[in-house]
Amino acid sequence: MTVQATNTPHDIDTDQSSPIPNDGAAPRAPRAALSVVRDLPPHRLPQVEAHLPLTVAHELGVPTVHRTVVDAANFDHGATTPALVSVRDAVDATLPTYGSVHRGAGLPSRVTTGWFEQARVTVGEFVGARPDDEVVFTRNTTDALALLAHCVPRGTQVFAWESAHHAALLPWGRRHCTRLAVPNSAADAVELLRSALAASDARGKLVVITGACNVTGEVWPVRELIAAAREHGARTVIDAAQLAPHREIDLADLGADWVAFSGHKLYAPYGAGVLVGRRDWLDLASPYLPGGGATARVRHQHITWQSGAARHEGGTPNAVGAIALAAACATLRRHHEEIERHESALFDQLRAGLREIPGVRLVTVLGDDRPNVGVVTFTVAGYDPSLVSLVLSDEYGISVRDGRFCAHLLCDNILGDGSSAVRASIGLATRAHHVGRLLDGVRRLVESGPTLDYTYDESTGWTAADDPRDLSAPCPW
Ligand SMILES: Cc1ncc(COP(=O)(O)O)c(C=O)c1O
Repeated sequence: MTVQATNTPHDIDTDQSSPIPNDGAAPRAPRAALSVVRDLPPHRLPQVEAHLPLTVAHELGVPTVHRTVVDAANFDHGATTPALVSVRDAVDATLPTYGSVHRGAGLPSRVTTGWFEQARVTVGEFVGARPDDEVVFTRNTTDALALLAHCVPRGTQVFAWESAHHAALLPWGRRHCTRLAVPNSAADAVELLRSALAASDARGKLVVITGACNVTGEVWPVRELIAAAREHGARTVIDAAQLAPHREIDLADLGADWVAFSGHKLYAPYGAGVLVGRRDWLDLASPYLPGGGATARVRHQHITWQSGAARHEGGTPNAVGAIALAAACATLRRHHEEIERHESALFDQLRAGLREIPGVRLVTVLGDDRPNVGVVTFTVAGYDPSLVSLVLSDEYGISVRDGRFCAHLLCDNILGDGSSAVRASIGLATRAHHVGRLLDGVRRLVESGPTLDYTYDESTGWTAADDPRDLSAPCPW
């Protein structure tokens, strides 16, 4: 299948506030795929909001098919985030004295052990953990929820909405998990839970609550759901993968039992995630990763396992990841209000702008009035979502995600069987002029189509014909 191009490339840089305008200068020659825009004259550098934490990607320049270099417009924070500068600095400071955790008397080992344990405290504070809660380091949210699933006592029934991310929907096993229908409002979500809990005579109950939906960005009625769960003696875990980077969470105040989230979605992409919460189920379960560090004493006939976080953190832990996560938590905690204000303003601008473009359909689950962490998911009539995201990338230097977002049951429900959409997710690397550029890109696509020919191949997906760029990036080692 081929999409016909128009003959003249659009003048893509119409951002009034864009620091790198296409000012009529001769097109630059194709250059390395990625560059740092620092080598541009100062008046063309991306503007940086001084009150917001800075990411390491704020000077990233990306080449477009039009032989321009634009500052990267990141609308893919829902998938993963660039590191914060403060996180990179913390990692840099960790490396010279990096040593084994809980395994040595040498200075590097003692320093690293101290920072690793302090990282638990900082991460616990970030989510308002109670004094007796455990902070268990994992690889990511998927791993944290799988750990909790491993610890769920026999006879416990788990309740999860079909709208949940697969990481929150699947680890409990089909038989032990009651799937609640995709709700159509916050009140509906609470009502569905109430009736399912009332109908269950299971010995123990656990409710899996999405903090913010990864498809739509809508914030779920977490407090109300926890209250409903508690009325029925059920425990709760919040999947905060999408919530934690954008909103303050207070486990103690909410009365939730556990919370799970990922470092890489919270500006700390160093391979750590976390499960924070009650220790009783964790201590009753067999170790998640049996091995060194999880044991207190091993004899021929009997093994005594550690209690607490160490029980489930067998093997040498990812100390750098934990420290990076703590550094991100410390920075975000100081900036919660500014971040929310920044992201809400961009979200309002983006949503309002997309609504005005004919053929663009915005997707919601709980309704238009829900608070949102800065995600707008949409379809463009007549265009495959994966072509939309490629055109935005190739022609405008914009990163979005397209697909079904590891939430197939939800996408079937709101988009149609097997259908996908485009997701624009805002975060600390998104600027107001990026929103302008994204709106412009979608509008031009709707009005005039793409500027190049794009062809579709079953195995490689869409590709642009006559792409002048060299997209090979040399390995950084
Ligand atoms: C709501 C939600 N939960 C869980 C996950 C899984 O996170 P990870 O891939 O970091 O394990 C994601 C990832 O996109 C998510 O958005």
